[in-house]
Amino acid sequence: KAKEKVHWVCSNCGYSAGQWWGVCRSCGEAGTMKEFHETKGSDNKVSGFAVMDGAVGPWLPHQEETQLRPLRLAEVNRGSLTLVGGDPGVGKSTLLLQIAAMITEECNDSEASPVVYVSGEESVEQIGNRADRLGITEDIYLYSSNDIEDILKKVQYLSPRALVIDSIQTVYLKGIMGSPGGIMQVKECTSTLLRFAKTTNIPVLLIGHVTKSGDIAGPRVLEHIVDVVLYMEGEKYSTHRMLRAVKNRFGSTDELGVFEMSHSGLQAVSNASEMFLSEQHLDSEILAGLAVAVIMDGSRTFLIEIQALCLSGSTGSRQVNGIHANRADMIISVLIKQAGLRLQENAVFLNVVSGLTLTETAGDLAIAAAICSSFLEVPIPNDIAFIGEIGLSGELRMVPRMEKRVYTVAKLGYRMCIVPKTAEKTLGNEGLEKMTLVGCRNLKEVIYTVF
Ligand code: TYD
Ligand code: MG
Repeated sequence: KAKEKVHWVCSNCGYSAGQWWGVCRSCGEAGTMKEFHETKGSDNKVSGFAVMDGAVGPWLPHQEETQLRPLRLAEVNRGSLTLVGGDPGVGKSTLLLQIAAMITEECNDSEASPVVYVSGEESVEQIGNRADRLGITEDIYLYSSNDIEDILKKVQYLSPRALVIDSIQTVYLKGIMGSPGGIMQVKECTSTLLRFAKTTNIPVLLIGHVTKSGDIAGPRVLEHIVDVVLYMEGEKYSTHRMLRAVKNRFGSTDELGVFEMSHSGLQAVSNASEMFLSEQHLDSEILAGLAVAVIMDGSRTFLIEIQALCLSGSTGSRQVNGIHANRADMIISVLIKQAGLRLQENAVFLNVVSGLTLTETAGDLAIAAAICSSFLEVPIPNDIAFIGEIGLSGELRMVPRMEKRVYTVAKLGYRMCIVPKTAEKTLGNEGLEKMTLVGCRNLKEVIYTVF
């Protein structure tokens, strides 16, 4: 009965072809073409998905004191389509329920139309329970459905302040081939939602799961269609969550939201600059092998603790976590050759606290300092920060946005900041009265200064 049509779709860009290619002909990525079966039949579209029943109506929360602090999100533009992507379980549903509550709160006059939260994954009761747990007291309209046509028909009639769809992988459009979550459905549903947003002027917020297994209908495919793409990130065992803008038709992508997960939902982190410092760092007893780097992400500055452990009398093995292995090797080699550290007979372990991966060379100097500290068994006072890139001859180089980094360090009450000599000259004194800025030409000078 059903006839299968096979085609190959790139999991990176969504390019679709009638045959397999080792390298995607559109985006050039290798090994991303995935086989996709499109079933031709009449009633296969809802395979595996039952449309949950649920009625549209106001959901009345228990009257409890709200624990929510405003997350201060960018204003949701009228008629915009926003995609919030992230790994399953990272906290997307929680975040969007909180945003729905915030949008409702914003227009708290009784005339205002509601925010509608539609879930294709959970029942109205389940979403209601979650809202209860989060202490949400605003009236959000909840609906559970997988049928886009049905959803939009109901929503249009309500003409809400905003519409949340959780998630794009669980909704389908009648008359389109493939099952929910398949590439065709995901593309068509998103296009339909975009048209809906533009014609009604209702902002639509869309959740999309990113799967590690390279799900072909991952949000990558949708990035071209939507106006704004936000990704939610966070380590599995960490309570920090970050919301990163990767596409924004209305403004800058140079933004990063930092949140802390809690029993009552996500809370904006106000002292984000210091969240990557370990607890030991603030202790009075200082350990050898720790150094503080100053890293920029988006427009934010973070102080990150680098940990090093040098073990003498063993093979020269290297174990790095959170730093690119090549970069670590280079820094170790430079320390051996240009600073005279006998690291050859040492096993070197490197770790970046918080599970973050350093992508900036601005952290080089802190990495080198942490290694020196462990090797020499001399702790670095915990009120010193390091900024700078290391060159092959051991020289220190400037990195972008020195001023912003140095200023953050000063504001946090650090006593000293080690920077490249070339940067020292360009920095003014404003806001730096209480901190000593030490310009060094190379690693040797840093070692003389600090140890
Ligand atoms: P959830 O929002 O369901 O993730 P997603 O929609 O991305 O799959 O969150 C996953 C789990 O984590 C869920 O059981 C609720 C819990 N959670 C909290 O307890 N507090 C929080 O602040 C967040 C974000 C999640
Ligand atoms: Mg969810």
